[in-house]
Amino acid sequence: MATRAPRGPPTKASVLQWDAQTNEPYIRLPHPYSDFIVTPTRPSDISDIMSIFNDPRVYQWLTFIPHPFTQEHATQWVLDMKRKSDSIMDGVSPILSLSQGHIMDGCPVHVLRKVLPDGRYAFVGNISFKRCRFWYVEDEKERSRLAYENETKPIGDPGIVWSLSVHLLPTHHSQGLMTTAARYLITEWMIPRAGAEIFLVDIFEANIGSMRMAVKVGFVLQETLLLTSDIPNRFHKRLCLLRWRDDGRIQYEGYWTNEDGIDEACGMKQ
Ligand SMILES: CC(C)(COP(=O)(O)OP(=O)(O)OC[C@H]1O[C@@H](n2cnc3c(N)ncnc32)[C@H](O)[C@@H]1OP(=O)(O)O)[C@@H](O)C(=O)NCCC(=O)NCCS
Repeated sequence: MATRAPRGPPTKASVLQWDAQTNEPYIRLPHPYSDFIVTPTRPSDISDIMSIFNDPRVYQWLTFIPHPFTQEHATQWVLDMKRKSDSIMDGVSPILSLSQGHIMDGCPVHVLRKVLPDGRYAFVGNISFKRCRFWYVEDEKERSRLAYENETKPIGDPGIVWSLSVHLLPTHHSQGLMTTAARYLITEWMIPRAGAEIFLVDIFEANIGSMRMAVKVGFVLQETLLLTSDIPNRFHKRLCLLRWRDDGRIQYEGYWTNEDGIDEACGMKQ
């Protein structure tokens, strides 16, 4: 549910748009990835969700994803994610939510799709921001306290710690897609429209692709934990916590270009 107006004057139109045909919000990624959009989940995603979470190139890096990932798991996942999108959009008319008016409790779109030349969409993966639950904190009391504190902060509170989950179909790995998607959603949505300032990712140290992606987005290593045996991942133990830094963002300021090569932030030709 949306509450208060964003901090500071609006600088440019929101990146969230409304698709009247599918009756859902979407965000288009910037050039040269503008044939990719991010939308809420759809019931038609169930089989793709099953494929992605049953692929060892994906699931070996994940925690809390059951294996095998059954049709029931996928159906529940789609329902939960759709409910989350709807609750973020709740009470906000599409028109209002697309303008500069409101701070929202996260990002209402999270499934990456490629728009095909014939206008159909192909599921490619997902990217979602959630209030961090600090699952890796070993002391149960402390973990609950941190999670409760984070969960009960008001919408738009800059002290909320946001965690980021990302998964791509292996056919789309190593093409720079998730670096662009994560950086774009953080700088163009989560900061201006969710009032977010703190982002944490937890990545197994051996997950080189994810570590490289996070560093390119602007995350820096904060600490490395050695997890105990009762963690919900049987493959890996060394977990890196990385925190997003604003100077990572500054480093990339002026990065976004449209199809004409015009920098959208400062209006200069690249
Ligand atoms: C993590 C993930 C989302 C990254 O998305 P992506 O679009 O492939 O990432 P990018 O292409 O933007 O960047 C990844 C970089 O790591 C490199 N890379 C990927 N796998 C690698 C590996 N095994 N060894 C070395 N480098 C690797 C890529 O070549 C790329 O490097 P570059 O920028 O120099 O070209 C994707 O790989 C994925 O879905 N992995 C499986 C699920 C997962 O691990 N999720 C994260 C859990 S924390």
